[in-house]
Amino acid sequence: MSISTTNESGRYPAWPPEGPSRAPYWSFVDPSIYQREQEKIFRGSAWHFLGLEAEVPEPGCFKTNRVGDTPVVLTRDQDGILHAVVNRCAHRGNIVCREELGKAESLYCVYHAWAYNLKGDLTSAAFRRGIRGEGGLPEDFKLEDHGLQKLRVESFCGLVFGSFDHKIMPLTEWMGEVGDGIRRTLPRPLKVLGYDTQRIHANWKNYHENPRDSFHANILHTFYGTFGLSKQSQESAMVLDRAGRHVYFYTKMGTDRDDATYKQTASNLRSVKSDFSLRDRQLLDWTDEFGDGINIQILSLYPSFVLHQISNNLATRQLVTYSPTLCDLHWTYFGFEDDTPEMTDRRLFQQNLVGSAGLVSMEDASVCEMIRRSLGDKPEGSSFMQMGGKDLNSGGSSKLSERALRNFWNTYRGQMEL
Ligand code: FES
Ligand SMILES: [Fe+2]
Repeated sequence: MSISTTNESGRYPAWPPEGPSRAPYWSFVDPSIYQREQEKIFRGSAWHFLGLEAEVPEPGCFKTNRVGDTPVVLTRDQDGILHAVVNRCAHRGNIVCREELGKAESLYCVYHAWAYNLKGDLTSAAFRRGIRGEGGLPEDFKLEDHGLQKLRVESFCGLVFGSFDHKIMPLTEWMGEVGDGIRRTLPRPLKVLGYDTQRIHANWKNYHENPRDSFHANILHTFYGTFGLSKQSQESAMVLDRAGRHVYFYTKMGTDRDDATYKQTASNLRSVKSDFSLRDRQLLDWTDEFGDGINIQILSLYPSFVLHQISNNLATRQLVTYSPTLCDLHWTYFGFEDDTPEMTDRRLFQQNLVGSAGLVSMEDASVCEMIRRSLGDKPEGSSFMQMGGKDLNSGGSSKLSERALRNFWNTYRGQMEL
């Protein structure tokens, strides 16, 4: 069901009458929209990626991260239970945990030595009783009133998520049918291989849209079309969860049906007309490790998470926001604990395709930044997303469709009350 096209708040221009098949450009640049996103989406009712269980494998391990622009820390307590808290001291707001990854018995604020246990409860405050009868905190001060703000935490197939909404539906219910795509790609315990952070001078939604529109792969990405990793003529599909929040796409290399209709359109594509070749074809050395013929699966969870399998390269991508026109994309590369050294080498070699300088991935961030440059600060107009139809269900499971985008904007408008 499509939501209303009237802007009840009256604070913003009305949404275009076509509803979710258009997104007004002001929503990509308006600072008050950005603030509203932080409140209603990032600190609102949604599950957000916090890290891999493999990054906090033992009691005392922690990982710092951000949900939107709120700093958080993921911990594993002495009983092995995962927790997440806002990484902001309850005293005067200092960052408590300053390292990206580590192990500690408690979380200690360097400013005035307030210390918290791994659940985020305040356990001590320096000079609480004063000295020689002077200073100190009031008699009615209670440690239990001053803990770090807690998130609800759940994990699924080694991925850990948190939410500021303690009443949100369980994580597996939130993921719906798209959870099957995660189960398929993460069947065994994970092993982290490395990290990469990519600064993108664009609105976070520009990047979030990108893996939801799978047909750009054969158009924008010269490497894909030229070397056959992803083409519109291959067997492929799109799977959306019933609520329309999340999506994954897959493609099967080697199933090409380059018939007349494909050839007619593809002959004009920049990506297909290229005369590039590879001296070392090792980059194309893919092994069907999941046994289903799928060489690319890109999975996108609302609002800011991607899980990819590109050949044998596996990674999570998380968007962290800074302003309406600035975000970071955090890439975490991983394999499985039981990988052979040869498989680890293959995954690492294929890293040349992805990340900030990847032969494929660099084009995605470039396009987002080009859109940012085109929009300026007070853009008029809206984007147009009617490939495969105009409404939320049209387009079916075809990759040649913007159905997943229409569903994203529908979910977004619902949460933002726009
Ligand atoms: S701000 Fe953390 S102890 Fe003062
Ligand atoms: Fe792309």
